[in-house]
Amino acid sequence: MALFRLCNNAKTPKSALKFLDFRCIVTSCRAVVLPRFGGPEVLQIRSNVQVPDLKPCDVLVRARAVSVNPLDTRMRAGYGRSLFEPLLPLILGRDVSGEVVAVGSSVESLNVGQEVFGALHPTARRGTYADYAILAEDQLALKPNSVTHLDASAVPFAALTAWRALKSTARIAEGQRVLVIGGGGAVGLAGIQLAVATGCHVATTCGHQSIDRVLEVGAEQAIDYTSEDIALKIEGQFDAVLDTIGVPETERLGINFLKRGGYYMTLQGEAASLADRYGLAIGLPTATAILLKKQIQYRYSHGIEYSWTFMRSDSEGLHEIRRLMEAGKLKIPIEKTFPITQVKEAHEAKDKRIVIGKVVLEVD
Ligand SMILES: NC(=O)c1ccc[n+]([C@@H]2O[C@H](COP(=O)([O-])OP(=O)(O)OC[C@H]3O[C@@H](n4cnc5c(N)ncnc54)[C@H](OP(=O)(O)O)[C@@H]3O)[C@@H](O)[C@H]2O)c1
Repeated sequence: MALFRLCNNAKTPKSALKFLDFRCIVTSCRAVVLPRFGGPEVLQIRSNVQVPDLKPCDVLVRARAVSVNPLDTRMRAGYGRSLFEPLLPLILGRDVSGEVVAVGSSVESLNVGQEVFGALHPTARRGTYADYAILAEDQLALKPNSVTHLDASAVPFAALTAWRALKSTARIAEGQRVLVIGGGGAVGLAGIQLAVATGCHVATTCGHQSIDRVLEVGAEQAIDYTSEDIALKIEGQFDAVLDTIGVPETERLGINFLKRGGYYMTLQGEAASLADRYGLAIGLPTATAILLKKQIQYRYSHGIEYSWTFMRSDSEGLHEIRRLMEAGKLKIPIEKTFPITQVKEAHEAKDKRIVIGKVVLEVD
């Protein structure tokens, strides 16, 4: 049950105003709250969670679907506690698809009633597991009509992560060769599709159950990481490697298969885990030192660029992702949908690997 107050909003289009220059703004709503770190059982569905006032660049979205990312289950279990513990209770969730119900005073590109999708930054305190989510204007794009809310919610956080690595960091270009380590997951699949849409040749490692899927979206070579000697199967050298697994063995593999001048990008940067272990004051400088050391080491030993990739909001990237979704060139298949009231079951299914692929929560 959402609570509303009446307010004046100069941004509301005249057509939506009907006869009154007022409309309703939500002041509280149902949300999934994380009061402390732990297993799925700590998640609480509360009915009267405050919805803060919108800042000028904010957009209030009536959520219809929110997807479950590994960051959600990891945050719930305590990953990033050095940053998030002082912010408890917080709301999990990064992705959302829904309808605009209100806009801040400086929002120009979106209007009330439009269907949108997008993703929050990894460190956002008020997540999207709620009836109403707040995102900045540049974190949202119009949802393609041909894509359902469920499908749209599965894409942005994963695709923007892949975008950050392949397009913003490595600046992949037509004709280049890209290796995606872990192509069966959401970020890996998005990475394959972004690279294929750019005109790159893509090879990937994945589980045997993902082979058909990665080939279907355009990978030219798929190597089963469970049953083969990967290093002997991979053909040629690459301009960019996106490593979604980021363990020492995949890092070695990725770096050894790069051409000189190539880019290695891992999603498993150590900043948050070191900050959790040693506190922000020691952990973050330690992480910076480790990263710098590796960058210098690999530049000299292999002539390559090494980086930790973190998802970042990117309006231009999101609009390009939207364009690819609309053209049917970018999709993350959903393996299972749960109503948001079954969020604990959804997290348990991910924790216990009962469901391997993408899980989406439907918000009624
Ligand atoms: N740094 C960031 O900002 C950022 C952003 C997003 C995600 N991430 C991290 O990136 C990772 C992937 O995220 P996601 O959303 O893509 O997760 P996901 O959809 O759950 O995918 C994980 C996939 O990894 C594959 N896998 C596991 N071990 C593998 C191995 N040794 N070799 C190749 N593939 C392997 C599995 O693929 P198969 O099904 O084919 O076996 C699994 O489906 C997670 O650890 C997540 O926390 C980081």
